[in-house]
Amino acid sequence: RAPITVPALQQRKPGGDKIVALTCYDASFAAHLDAAGVDVVLVGDSLGMVIQGLASTLPVSVDDMVYHTAAVARGMRAPLLVADMPFMSYRDVATAMASATRLIAEGGASMVKLEGGAWTLEVIEALVVRDIPVCAHLGLTPQSVHRLGGYKVQGKLPADAARLLADAHAVAGAGAQMLVLECVPTALAEQITREIAIPTIGIGAGPGCDGQVLVLYDLLGITPGRRPRFSKDFLRGHDSIDAALVAYVQAVRQSTFPGPEHSY
Ligand code: KIV
Ligand code: NA
Repeated sequence: RAPITVPALQQRKPGGDKIVALTCYDASFAAHLDAAGVDVVLVGDSLGMVIQGLASTLPVSVDDMVYHTAAVARGMRAPLLVADMPFMSYRDVATAMASATRLIAEGGASMVKLEGGAWTLEVIEALVVRDIPVCAHLGLTPQSVHRLGGYKVQGKLPADAARLLADAHAVAGAGAQMLVLECVPTALAEQITREIAIPTIGIGAGPGCDGQVLVLYDLLGITPGRRPRFSKDFLRGHDSIDAALVAYVQAVRQSTFPGPEHSY
């Protein structure tokens, strides 16, 4: 299949095929994600928790992200490769430029993802104007865990929902080309998806987004500890990793995942 590009994903937005995204951290899994038909492969800073065993994503470094992004890039061909900008690596424009350059030039990513609303606009504009595509990330932003006081659904109160909606318009206006919505009520994610022109990728954001993403190790049921509500073990009922990956791709394309039991 032809390599997935940023403009191609943009063109799916008006009622096109759902975008299937999944996290990945190494070359071997990357090859299987590619073969299963995954559109977007995200090297998430969730690697701090599922690979490094950390209690949060905060200690993950740009070096860590470059190492894993380069490994993933070597293992796959067609999916769009997105790399997370780790905590404090985009705290100002100059730092963001340096971090993103490494993820693109050394890691081989085609797009970088960063968390946050209003304060990130200047950074998004600076990256995009220099031709580094940006995916924004709103709702439950794990790098904000100390402010949020835990990992829980966001945008339930009317004032929080209004701010989230305004942030979504703002990051799209600043030039972001994709938006991850994590742990937000289904109705709010639907409204955002309707109102903004860029694709939304949901995780715990209901079936109304333009695409879905999961943490690979949650999909395989091997993440230690409690399973988050929004995830599903696709290896259950399937006899191989490849079968589980294909089941996830089909479930997203056919809108049978996520169900109400995975949403808020
Ligand atoms: O780090 C990560 O895995 C992510 C996805 C869950 C969106 O940011
Ligand atoms: Na992340």
